[in-house]
Amino acid sequence: MHARLKPLSEQVIVITGASSGIGLATAREAVRRGAAVVLVARNRLALDKIASELVSASGRAAVCAVDVAEEGAATRIAAVAQATFGGFDTWVNCAAVSDYGTIEQIGLAEHRRVFEVDYFAMLAGCLVGLAAPAAAAAERSSTLAPSCPTGR
Ligand SMILES: NC(=O)c1ccc[n+]([C@@H]2O[C@H](COP(=O)([O-])OP(=O)(O)OC[C@H]3O[C@@H](n4cnc5c(N)ncnc54)[C@H](OP(=O)(O)O)[C@@H]3O)[C@@H](O)[C@H]2O)c1
Repeated sequence: MHARLKPLSEQVIVITGASSGIGLATAREAVRRGAAVVLVARNRLALDKIASELVSASGRAAVCAVDVAEEGAATRIAAVAQATFGGFDTWVNCAAVSDYGTIEQIGLAEHRRVFEVDYFAMLAGCLVGLAAPAAAAAERSSTLAPSCPTGR
């Protein structure tokens, strides 16, 4: 099935992990192409700085500083999108953590954290995205998940 998406310039895009790396690059490119963005990460100072940079270049950006692994985080993010832009069209999951080490060097809690942030938070974002009013019209919404839920 081919999704028919709204033009980027008409979209509101939630981007988790937007303070750095792939999420930040995605946010900058989305705004450059005319989309409004909701920037999500834990570091509020970094997000505020990025948002003001985007807004001063005539972009539209809002910030939600939250740990995506927290209970209810996806709902809070959606509420910011709703309050600022009247909802959202696309949800991009770039927030991620990874561990480096052999399987016995990495503790169980760290393994769990990788799955909480990289998998379960992504799943929560997908579910909130699917439940959002915009998602009712299949041509208006997509949910992407570029992160890899595994460490090495
Ligand atoms: N870079 C690559 O070439 C590449 C290639 C293939 C796959 N990947 C995968 O893509 C993912 C992102 O990579 P990246 O290079 O963009 O990583 P990165 O630069 O470390 O960025 C991670 C982002 O996620 C946010 N984040 C981390 N934990 C969070 C949490 N609990 N709640 C909310 N935000 C959180 C970080 O911000 P805060 O710390 O402020 O929360 C940051 O904005 C990773 O899974 C990586 O393995 C990367």
